[in-house]
Amino acid sequence: MRSCSGWRRFLLLIPVLFVLPHLSSVFEFSSISTKKEESRSIRSKKLDHIVLGSVAGQGLPDRLHCRGTKALNRTHASTSNVTGGAGNGVCFVTVFTVYNNTSVENVKSSNMVSVVGNVTYSKQERSMAVLNAFTNFIQVTMPKSNVVILTDPASELSIEQSNVMVQPVWGDYSRSNLMLQRIRSYIMFLEIKLEKNDGGINHYLLTDSDIAVVDNIGTIFEKHPNFHIALTFRNNKDQPLNSGFIAVRGSREGILRAKVFLEQVLKAYKTKYMKASRMLGDQLALVWVVKSHPSFDAKRFTKLQPFTQEIAGASVLFLPCALYNWTPPEGAGQFHGMPLDVKIVHFKGSRKRLMLEAWNFYKSTSNIPDMLCLVLGSGRTKYDF
Ligand SMILES: *[C@@H]1O[C@H](CO)[C@@H](O)[C@H](O)[C@H]1NC(C)=O
Ligand SMILES: *[C@@H]1O[C@H](CO)[C@@H](O)[C@H](O)[C@H]1NC(C)=O
Ligand SMILES: *[C@@H]1O[C@H](CO)[C@@H](O)[C@H](O)[C@H]1NC(C)=O
Ligand SMILES: *[C@@H]1O[C@H](CO)[C@@H](O)[C@H](O)[C@H]1NC(C)=O
Ligand SMILES: *[C@@H]1O[C@H](CO)[C@@H](O)[C@H](O)[C@H]1NC(C)=O
Repeated sequence: MRSCSGWRRFLLLIPVLFVLPHLSSVFEFSSISTKKEESRSIRSKKLDHIVLGSVAGQGLPDRLHCRGTKALNRTHASTSNVTGGAGNGVCFVTVFTVYNNTSVENVKSSNMVSVVGNVTYSKQERSMAVLNAFTNFIQVTMPKSNVVILTDPASELSIEQSNVMVQPVWGDYSRSNLMLQRIRSYIMFLEIKLEKNDGGINHYLLTDSDIAVVDNIGTIFEKHPNFHIALTFRNNKDQPLNSGFIAVRGSREGILRAKVFLEQVLKAYKTKYMKASRMLGDQLALVWVVKSHPSFDAKRFTKLQPFTQEIAGASVLFLPCALYNWTPPEGAGQFHGMPLDVKIVHFKGSRKRLMLEAWNFYKSTSNIPDMLCLVLGSGRTKYDF
């Protein structure tokens, strides 16, 4: 069987420790509140249940229109043949670790429980549930793809899902070092691909695990046949690039150039951004590498058009976050709704509850556009995790 992991033999050494909690398929509509007053008064508060507010982007022709959680448009995800060969030759790679060791902080936080649907999660179970939702969405929209989870050997993570592989990579996965370690783990993964000379079998999507893949994202490799590495951008002066989605062409050349590019990012991180907030260092380093290229024109981030640029020896494709890394905006602010051809929804920060609710909703409806209406309608709510 085709596999995107070169380290399968290590798996035999990993004892099975987790029985993955099954997410509830029951979605309780009664817990959805649509009351305007409520959504206004709670905008600053973090909520432990789904709240639907007004849906942004209504009236704009190319945006998703909804009535409650009913989608009024068909989205690209609903028209593409996701039950067919979607995901063939694509491998998702994510870095994930479980913190179940007993520091004072962990003992305290492990007592915290959250209820989603009718399932109660401890803090660790919660992050496992997010990881499960991540792989489950991929299984739905890109059933032929694989997922590799790069993890701390000490985390003893084990997942029983046929398209998911756990690949331990040595390193320092402590919370304060996680973003730095993530780039290191990505680089090591690409190095293994080069050593094993198994380039050309798969393309790689290096992503955060708090994303829902809602359409076949693998089409970017044919649509844009010449890039080595792809990044997502938005019109944001301070943080124009998001590190949660990095695509790597699976040719030997693509893997090699992407590795060299990420090495530059790692170097910038280590020399310039070690003091940055632990969640931002990699993004700042990514932006630094891109912007330090003499001919790079940051104005291109203000348009929604994809573009390609040679940077640090690689042909870098820039894709708009609006389609390839869409995040429900929290709180107030400009918000033009959701494009109909959105491919990835990113549940950054305290939107993880919404990700679990979205998966539960999908499980009970099997309808991606309606699920997107749920996400869009509650996009301004701040959640408790
Ligand atoms: C909780 O979820 C389970 C599994 O989906 C379901 O069988 C059960 O009826 C639910 N219980 C309640 C009280 O909703
Ligand atoms: C989406 O649905 C709305 C409401 O029915 C409609 O006005 C709009 O034209 C539709 N957009 C597309 C692209 O079909
Ligand atoms: C969808 O893909 C499957 C498997 O590749 C194929 O058999 C089927 O004909 C396709 N359906 C459409 C509508 O393209
Ligand atoms: C995590 O928990 C499992 C089972 O509870 C335990 O066997 C394992 O040693 C723990 N890992 C760490 C790093 O503490
Ligand atoms: C706790 O676990 C994390 C992740 O597995 C690891 O990086 C860290 O060193 C561990 N801390 C202790 C005190 O064992």
